[in-house]
Amino acid sequence: MKRIGVMTSGGDCPGLNAAIRAITRRAVNGHGFEVLGIEDAVAGLAQRRARPLSPTLIDLDGFDPMLSTGGTILGSINKPIDAVAADIEQGYLELGLDALIAIGGDGSLAILQEHARSGWNLVGIPKTIDNDVALTDRSIGFDTAVRTVTRACAQLRTTGVSHDRVMILETMGRGAGHLALASGIAGGADAILIPEIDWKLEGLVATVEATRRRRNHAFALVVVAEGARSPLGDTVTSTDVKGREHFGGVGSAIARALEEATEGRIEARATVLGHLQRGGEPSPMDAILATEFGIHAVDLVAEERYDTMVSLQGTRIEAVRLDDVVARGAALVDPAEEMAHTARSVGIYLGES
Ligand code: F6P
Repeated sequence: MKRIGVMTSGGDCPGLNAAIRAITRRAVNGHGFEVLGIEDAVAGLAQRRARPLSPTLIDLDGFDPMLSTGGTILGSINKPIDAVAADIEQGYLELGLDALIAIGGDGSLAILQEHARSGWNLVGIPKTIDNDVALTDRSIGFDTAVRTVTRACAQLRTTGVSHDRVMILETMGRGAGHLALASGIAGGADAILIPEIDWKLEGLVATVEATRRRRNHAFALVVVAEGARSPLGDTVTSTDVKGREHFGGVGSAIARALEEATEGRIEARATVLGHLQRGGEPSPMDAILATEFGIHAVDLVAEERYDTMVSLQGTRIEAVRLDDVVARGAALVDPAEEMAHTARSVGIYLGES
């Protein structure tokens, strides 16, 4: 009998609990393993904080909330902690783990893979609303976030049209524009600005003016990822009391620049969706993906195929080497491919590439 640890690491997203549920069911009922939920990612290892998980325990007498509840019952962290690597690595041994399933984004998986060199048996599951984990078509959380942003587009449209305004919706996505791009297409954006593609204010003004002429009113919808360049060509960030950098505010900078460039002919308003994008009930597609990933991850442990990550390749779940995932780094939007091509083909302004 194996004892497997499960942890969630990095920014939370909808579908994490559904993955924990699937892992627990498959491990206990399918393989007779024992499951320990590690609390707060590596902090739980450093401080030996873990609790047993069982299908009956998390089923809550049939209410089965894990499928539909956002967040993670195990807690998560997405900033460095005050612990030495040896403490974290020793935690794996002291908790008596035979394997660890880590549900994380590209940053977390890279850090955990480094720790795993101390002798851990690691299997990764990709999650992030940014969808920028390499070597998988999808990560848990992306589909739900696309739905959230798409709905926000629809709500901004009605007020924007009613007031003849350009509405600018700022999404998450520090380095990768997948979320803004997919949601902008689904939400009927006139322009989508992402970190991977440079854009010019004149290009955006021309798009907005053309949209105005076509529609006979000033409404236009612009979806911008938080990490996209501002009209001045820089990124818009602020620093918190601990000196950490946060993205946010590029939407307002663009609204201001649009108003100035058109001498007030255009009125613009910016909305920052922020952490609303990370919360809520997972979409059915995310609940399914989380379940499939969870089951496959446990099966990889059963087969002792470690240093791997479960991955969606088309419609199939495959195992890829964690080394290869980490070596690739964040998977960015390719300006010449797929979704970008789709956006341009329906007349959406993406910038100058
Ligand atoms: O990595 C996911 C992400 O959602 C980024 O797009 C965003 O910049 C970041 O998390 C925000 O994280 P925090 O919870 O630290 O504000």
